[in-house]
Amino acid sequence: MLTKIARSLHDQISINVVNKLSARLCSYTPGNKKHSPVWAWNEWDPLEEIVLGLPDMACCPEILPEAKACISENKFDFLLKHKGKYWKDVIEPEHYKIMLDEHKNFIKILQGEGVKVVHPEPIDFAKTLCTPNFTAHGVDCAMPRDFLLIVGNEMIESTMTWRSRYFEFMCYKKLIKDYWSRGAKWTAAPKPMCKETLFKENYRADEDSTAFFDEKTSILTEEEPVFDAADFIRCGRDIFAHVSQVSNNAGIEWVRRHLAPKGIRVHSMNFVDPKPMHIDTTLFTPRPGLAITCPERPCLQIGMLKKAGWDVVVAPYPDIAKNFPYYISSQWLSLNVVMLDENRVLVEKDEIGIQKLFEKCGITPVKVPFKHCFSIGGGIHCWTSDVRRRGDLQNYFD
Ligand code: ARG
Repeated sequence: MLTKIARSLHDQISINVVNKLSARLCSYTPGNKKHSPVWAWNEWDPLEEIVLGLPDMACCPEILPEAKACISENKFDFLLKHKGKYWKDVIEPEHYKIMLDEHKNFIKILQGEGVKVVHPEPIDFAKTLCTPNFTAHGVDCAMPRDFLLIVGNEMIESTMTWRSRYFEFMCYKKLIKDYWSRGAKWTAAPKPMCKETLFKENYRADEDSTAFFDEKTSILTEEEPVFDAADFIRCGRDIFAHVSQVSNNAGIEWVRRHLAPKGIRVHSMNFVDPKPMHIDTTLFTPRPGLAITCPERPCLQIGMLKKAGWDVVVAPYPDIAKNFPYYISSQWLSLNVVMLDENRVLVEKDEIGIQKLFEKCGITPVKVPFKHCFSIGGGIHCWTSDVRRRGDLQNYFD
């Protein structure tokens, strides 16, 4: 009995000591990084491990209304013609071959920098997908950024909003399970129903609109929370969320409430962009105190960064011509970069303007030939998801 009381007293004292200590360090004990293979709180800590998407079996998306809401109308005819076909049968063969070479070479560059590279597992995206609420053609597992939200030791599977991307999660199961079995935290956001009523009827985006995008101009209703991971940009305690055609207010609120116990604040950001999808061509934070913005997409809440003493620099116009075959995205993939650490950035080799900007800011560009990979929808940031960076949770805003 006495030993029991003594033991419980001892436990209580230890708990109090630990509580006091952790209160000083951080209000949240974010899991033990020694026991988690997943660990990344921001975009700039030294990169150790990255998921790189694969082009295998990738298909041209079916442009259902929610995809039309994200893609510029001048691409519709091409996409309608090729929906559901493998990209390798759609793209000009030489272009496709260079894309594969660039992809292979990118792995070498990453490995040369000491970064471990892992991949999802492709499924056959040409198969028709079917749920009780819809059928669609699949897309790809080329863009892990869109699906995986990494915050500290936690991997969050996002809901995904395009119905054609509903089953992308299958490509990541093995990878996530492996990280989880080695100690990472695994969360799957509520899988949406994606009924017709999630999408406003007869919606058509006004491509010339100069209004800040919000729920009124969105194709999405607030029927259920939906979000893509690429609509979030991590800056330690603060995460910026892009209100977009694929992330509604409820989706952002789900992430906000989910991360609040870690002491993380999720800020909704509205931009001038009639077809917003993913924040990583619009706002990027290469290091603490520095944000780069897209000149065509002003941000309603940018004052928050300026007030906190951050430098907000406007990106130059891309060097790669507008008529380059960007089959799904805009040319702003110039902004779509990955930091090796605070002082070095992986950037497309022909995007000279943004390279010069980085140099001016004291950041060395590591030039990567990658533009042929842009064609199927994403840049260096989209094609990857950094799962481990050396560094801890910090507050960069107050
Ligand atoms: N919608 C963006 C644009 O056209 C492309 C975003 C790509 N980002 C991504 N994570 N897939 O500028």
